[in-house]
Amino acid sequence: MTRNKKLVIGNWKMNFTVHEASLLLNKLSKLIKIRHDVEVVLAPPMIALQTLSLQVDLRQFKLAAQNLYWRDHGAYTGETSASQLRSLVKYAIIGHSERRNIFGENGKEIRSKMAAAIRNNICPILCVGENAIERASGETYDVLHDQIVGGLANITSHDMENVVIAYEPVWAVGTGKDATPDGALAAIKSIRSQLRHLYGDKKAKETKVLYGGSVNTDVAAGYLSLGEIDGLLVGEASLDANAFSRIVGIAHRESGESRRE
Ligand code: PGA
Repeated sequence: MTRNKKLVIGNWKMNFTVHEASLLLNKLSKLIKIRHDVEVVLAPPMIALQTLSLQVDLRQFKLAAQNLYWRDHGAYTGETSASQLRSLVKYAIIGHSERRNIFGENGKEIRSKMAAAIRNNICPILCVGENAIERASGETYDVLHDQIVGGLANITSHDMENVVIAYEPVWAVGTGKDATPDGALAAIKSIRSQLRHLYGDKKAKETKVLYGGSVNTDVAAGYLSLGEIDGLLVGEASLDANAFSRIVGIAHRESGESRRE
């Protein structure tokens, strides 16, 4: 994956019926222009993926799953596998802090999910980030190190071409307190140095690293103006068509391409 496009992902979480999700996609398709410098990804609830996959213009939006199960098939009541999702989505969010903290997802499951995504040609978006206690006790970089090393344990250098990392400090997700561009920059630099250590300089430079956590129309530009940050993972603000389309517009404005226009 090259870093010349900004990536803006809307994570709708457990919101909307299938009908409402379809209406939101319809609104977004009128508000958001197809751009060569911004890739826009929508992560609707699992039940809406099939409907949206028939409705979506893939030049305009790509789809993502919010989660997947690491086995390909079998007696796993209530789960959805990467092999079932592969015809519907380009991306899957893996290891989101809500999955880790509310559903107790551990490092072993996360690395199995990363491998399942890769095995099924789905690009995994690995979420990493420290919580408030870890931050207060100065453990941010250790936590990021462990989550990166653990999450990528099954991922080869070749696979890294399809991997996206999202820095999402837990204390910033859904709280209205964003990390600030400087704070995110320091963490993302440390993530990139981990990647350099694991896969070498070229791969570290080529991997897309996003920021997520209380991104809205007021703060988006601050993150996107930094060359080091390749895009945004947006929760709450992605539920509103106008707010999300403005964030996509900001990504276009802050991209190199629009400055050359
Ligand atoms: P938020 O969510 O924008 O509502 O903080 C971000 C996320 O969970 O990815």
